Amino acid sequence: MLRLADRMSQLGQESAFEVLMRARALEAQGRHVIHLEIGEPDFDTPANVVEAGCRALRNGATHYTPPAGISELRRAIAEQASRTRKHAVDPAQVVVTPGAKPIMFFVILALAQPGREVILPDPAFPIFESMVNFTGATAVHLPLREERGFAFDVDELRTLVNDRTVLLILNSPQNPTGGMLERSDLAAVAALCAERDIPVLSDEIYDHLVYDGEFASISEFAGMSTAERTIILNGFSKTYAMTGWRLGYGIMPVSLAEQVTLLMINSNSCTAAATQWAGLEALTGPQESVEAMVAAFAARRELIVAGLNALPGVSCVYPRGAFYAFPNIRGTGMDSRTCADFFLHEAGVACLSGASFGPSGEGYLRLSYANSEANIREALERMGAALGNIGSHRVSEGNAGSGPGYSL
Ligand SMILES: Cc1ncc(COP(=O)(O)O)c(C=O)c1O
Repeated sequence: MLRLADRMSQLGQESAFEVLMRARALEAQGRHVIHLEIGEPDFDTPANVVEAGCRALRNGATHYTPPAGISELRRAIAEQASRTRKHAVDPAQVVVTPGAKPIMFFVILALAQPGREVILPDPAFPIFESMVNFTGATAVHLPLREERGFAFDVDELRTLVNDRTVLLILNSPQNPTGGMLERSDLAAVAALCAERDIPVLSDEIYDHLVYDGEFASISEFAGMSTAERTIILNGFSKTYAMTGWRLGYGIMPVSLAEQVTLLMINSNSCTAAATQWAGLEALTGPQESVEAMVAAFAARRELIVAGLNALPGVSCVYPRGAFYAFPNIRGTGMDSRTCADFFLHEAGVACLSGASFGPSGEGYLRLSYANSEANIREALERMGAALGNIGSHRVSEGNAGSGPGYSL
């Protein structure tokens, strides 16, 4: 009989993968489903990047690399970060990982333990809380406010900080809301964290996907450089449409980079060699494909926000970055889970319950607009029709999952 360690019960799921599997099961029964659940660009990796990866393989990049990454890529990451984050970054601060997720995993593992607290946004990417729980530390929720464009209130953050706080997690532009932190908010958070000596894990994976205003990093502010107490998490999955390559990185104080490298040695040994060479081309080669992708997302954002606001009982603030819309669906009379099930079964549109990102996500859905304009249009039409039918149409419990039934 297998005796699992207690901590395994603390690991959570990522609802995007769960819903994807349920949608695939419906497709296997012949249903047509439009996928607005999964958070990955629908574009292919730029051809020059693919070619660099293939070339690297042909040239013998088939061996282990140093655990923290090849020096060429670490240097390029440090140079780009020095330029864009407005403080000097040393390549020794950079650890390259298979995707950005391991940075989350390793940094939380390195800092959190029972008796310590980690403050994280609510709603947020579910892996943050899953990892905090896994370490036995306590996850402290910092609610995001729709009326503030899904930013949090810095005064509220102040009340959550105490002597047990070992990490604050930020994510701007944000998954799942598309919200962004204003420079003024970042300045206030930076002052608080510098004064209280609280490290920040700043998830900046959507830094290039900004449609309103300009991206800013907390690491630009006094006392918060990556040599002091900001850990930048970033990667190639979103900006360069490289989700399947698995390539990300962290930039952090050298003393922590050494510990994270130790975790790399104990887990992956290193990130795939050819993937790293492809990443170097992505960073240093032509950027036109990124610009084209961002322009496409910007047009889709207009389409989806206008379409959602036209649905009865639904309202949606403009997401400023990433590729997610986070509409308020309270006016439909359904809770988030019921509403997501309803759209999957009655409209053939897969999207995620806001509540799967944290308690403050109740009353919202997350829709990814990393899909074609034609599919987004069709999804909105089908959602409108399903909501229009709701009065005349009783949805059977079998169809509706565990929801209480629908009323407007
Ligand atoms: C906020 C956030 N951070 C990190 C990641 C992980 O990215 P990667 O594919 O590089 O592991 C995601 C992916 O969805 C994300 O939304």
